[in-house]
Amino acid sequence: MRTLFVVSGGDAPGINAALYQGASLAAQYGDETLGVQGGFAGLLTEQIVPFTPHEMIHWLAMAGTHFQSSRDPVLAQAEAQEKLSHVLAQHQIDSIILFGGNGTLRYIPPLLERWGVACIGLPTTIDNDVPGTDLTLGFDSACNFAYSVVDGMRATGHALTGRIFTLETLGGDTGYLALEIARGSAADVVLLPEYEYDPVWVADRLKGAITRQGQALLVYSEGLKGKNELLDLIPKRTGIRVRDSHLGHAQRGGVPSHRDRALAADMVRKAYTALRDGVRTGVMVVRDGQTVLHSGILEATAPRLPDQILYNQINGLHEL
Ligand code: F6P
Repeated sequence: MRTLFVVSGGDAPGINAALYQGASLAAQYGDETLGVQGGFAGLLTEQIVPFTPHEMIHWLAMAGTHFQSSRDPVLAQAEAQEKLSHVLAQHQIDSIILFGGNGTLRYIPPLLERWGVACIGLPTTIDNDVPGTDLTLGFDSACNFAYSVVDGMRATGHALTGRIFTLETLGGDTGYLALEIARGSAADVVLLPEYEYDPVWVADRLKGAITRQGQALLVYSEGLKGKNELLDLIPKRTGIRVRDSHLGHAQRGGVPSHRDRALAADMVRKAYTALRDGVRTGVMVVRDGQTVLHSGILEATAPRLPDQILYNQINGLHEL
């Protein structure tokens, strides 16, 4: 079997671990593994290279992806689609293992199905916002990266009391990442794009945390509406300057965690075995703690909301 590994959209820690595991498994079967430099844009220009476990072992522990990705929506054009189907046929690609988020996993597999190329997708994004799976590759590492920053803020907050810290996470216009980070770092307030909030209430709750424990922490997702106005209001209302930090893109480059390495290994092993067993189209998903194959294309479902019970608990909005 000749399998092509394609990374499309935002990279995430754990992809390189999956590339290593895929190459290692294929080598055991005497199969060939190939990668594309630059996602589907690179595939159009035939940037295809074979790779071996020997080459990939060095990359295993690194974030990002050895084979670069692309957000270029090249496949929106009919000519590009036609060209791509020729490239795949010319290079005798039997199957594709596809790393990507919601857009990639919904849009690309139907095209490949039409061209007779088997494809199994691995939901990959630090945002954890792919409907149909409880967990995406990279999410756990992105949480751990955030903890390394928050823990430092907590340490200095203990040494110099009376400070309000605010931390912006990545996550696009979704709040799953911010919510989980807020839980793990014992934030006093978490704000997400999906839920409305009262800025005055936020300021008062932060002030209360200062009185109680000497420091306060607000975690919010980058897509939060009204964040600039909120950050202006907090010092006016509390009389305390806000120390605002942004995790930014560094959050996508955190060290691949144990959980992501294990998930990468599990997903790729099951995906590769399914391809060898003749599955044509599928997506690996995590449900009830198990990595399982979802056969066929991932259906379009309404996005789930971040856990509202957890959101209320962190914000002290629940009945004890
Ligand atoms: O890949 C997901 C993500 O990291 C989001 O959290 C973030 O909003 C976005 O990508 C940033 O995209 P870009 O790297 O194109 O600026």
